Amino acid sequence: MGICGSYSIKSANGNLLEMAKKLFNEDGIQMDIWDYSSSPLPIAGADGCWNDDNVLKFQEMAKSADAYILSSPEYHGTMSGVMKNQLDYLNFNLVGGKVWGLMSTLGGQSNTTTLNHMRISARWLHGHVIPEQLAIGRIKEAFNDNGDFIDGMMAERMEKLVESMKITTSKLIN
Ligand SMILES: Cc1cc2nc3c(=O)[nH]c(=O)nc-3n(C[C@H](O)[C@H](O)[C@H](O)COP(=O)(O)O)c2cc1C
Repeated sequence: MGICGSYSIKSANGNLLEMAKKLFNEDGIQMDIWDYSSSPLPIAGADGCWNDDNVLKFQEMAKSADAYILSSPEYHGTMSGVMKNQLDYLNFNLVGGKVWGLMSTLGGQSNTTTLNHMRISARWLHGHVIPEQLAIGRIKEAFNDNGDFIDGMMAERMEKLVESMKITTSKLIN
């Protein structure tokens, strides 16, 4: 399951998740991305939020997944509110004991703060977060017109991340 920290999947983070999806699909592995802009979740804690239709669908999708790949923009040194709001609807009965992979984009220089913060949240959800991760700084200059990485090393890191998720997930679920 892909979880996007940008409101729309027509964004850099949506693009990263689509790239990962392509790599999983090439190996016959299904990956579905939650589309927050067409299926927004209320702010966790709002009246009636726990019975909201989209929330129940989101939780069902999370429960049925074997692994999660998160991609969040850095907002003021951490994950976006959209990302955190989605994580707030998860609990370890739905996602515990499964595999997590992390990606982050930044307008400025690359750093791992957002990745570290998502790693902590995933741990609190009893997730096994793989060590491979991707932080992409100066995101406006990262993709060509086709949406592919300009820097070949980034494409390689993405391939390694997806590969590690596949290997770790198959070890854990078999
Ligand atoms: C509210 C807000 C806060 C931001 N804070 C940071 C920041 O702390 N560091 C940074 O490098 N970029 C920051 N940015 C830039 C975003 O990280 C950048 O626009 C985003 O990664 C692009 O991804 P997207 O196309 O998926 O939205 C911020 C942008 C917004 C809207």
